[in-house]
Amino acid sequence: MHQSDNRPVLLSGIQPSGNLLIGHYVGAMRNWVRLQHEYDSLFMLVDLHAITVRQDPEALRARCKDFVALYIACGIDPDQSDIFIQSHLPEHSELAWVLNCYTYMGELNRMTQFKDKSQRHSANINVGLFDYPVLMAADILLYGTDLVPVGHDQKQHLELTRDLAERFNNLYGEVFKVPEPFIPEHGGRIMSLQDPTAKMSKSDDNESNVIGLLDPPNRVRKKIRRAVTDSDMEIRFDPEEKPGVSNLISLMSAVTDRSVAEVEADYQGEGYGTLKKDLGEAMVAFLEPIQARFEEIRGDDAEMTRILKKGADRARERAQPVMRRVRDAVGLVAPGS
Ligand code: TYM
Repeated sequence: MHQSDNRPVLLSGIQPSGNLLIGHYVGAMRNWVRLQHEYDSLFMLVDLHAITVRQDPEALRARCKDFVALYIACGIDPDQSDIFIQSHLPEHSELAWVLNCYTYMGELNRMTQFKDKSQRHSANINVGLFDYPVLMAADILLYGTDLVPVGHDQKQHLELTRDLAERFNNLYGEVFKVPEPFIPEHGGRIMSLQDPTAKMSKSDDNESNVIGLLDPPNRVRKKIRRAVTDSDMEIRFDPEEKPGVSNLISLMSAVTDRSVAEVEADYQGEGYGTLKKDLGEAMVAFLEPIQARFEEIRGDDAEMTRILKKGADRARERAQPVMRRVRDAVGLVAPGS
């Protein structure tokens, strides 16, 4: 049962493109799992965001379901929290349109993710890619969200969301709650294994750079064994000077639930080989139960459909009054009035 809710609202989401990676878990999902019971929590699959780059339709549909099963396998409790698919609520697109009319081209031009993505998809720099942060602002503002647990790369989008909420409220009164980001002090930016100066990313074509939550044990061990470190021998957390080793320390801290300082202390005087070997085993031990639960949940289609319907129904209940306030504020005629 849902606790009846005076709790603040927590919301976050992931794009169902590529594979779900350990970076997503450490940067975002770990905090979803930790915070879900303190908040009235909503977790989305942002499929409308995913179509800003070309997708294979069947693969996208399957991946959405895979991600739902992985949310649950990683510890999201679908009876306590609401899991839903963004496109099941047309209110997201509607609010994005309204917010578009209050967002400046210059603001979106400054978004670093847009700059990165337009470089990567230079043959398809579509308006959706440009407008992506406004849809994200709509996702958040639609639910009176208080807290948004995300990785570091979403910080700028959260700042835009806050600016839009404040701009709108200044014009029309308190229509939106102004949300706060929640970005972890450590692990908010997990790096690529082979190039630890770049972010670990779903869109990376090089499999050796990333650890997927569904990677088989031997592949996980091998990727970690081959991770790039540096030429001195000291195990010390220093992301500027020692990005590779620091990344391994962050991962070890996350999957064994120890602080970065504890991991550093435990490996004083040890070599990189030991750290990598232990991390490989710790990562496998961490992923194994998730993978087993994933298989179980993913196999039960009826249960997944029930969870997604309940999630969308509850999300709609909350989105509708906010949308009514928005329509009223900007001067749209209410149907039947
Ligand atoms: P997405 O799908 O790129 O990433 C999902 C979440 O994982 C975090 N993340 C990382 N954290 C640490 N290290 C990494 N290497 C790493 N890579 C990704 C991201 O910061 C994110 O929290 N626009 C969003 C999805 C979105 C959303 C929202 C999020 C749409 N609407 C509303 C929160 C609220 C995105 O593309 O995330």
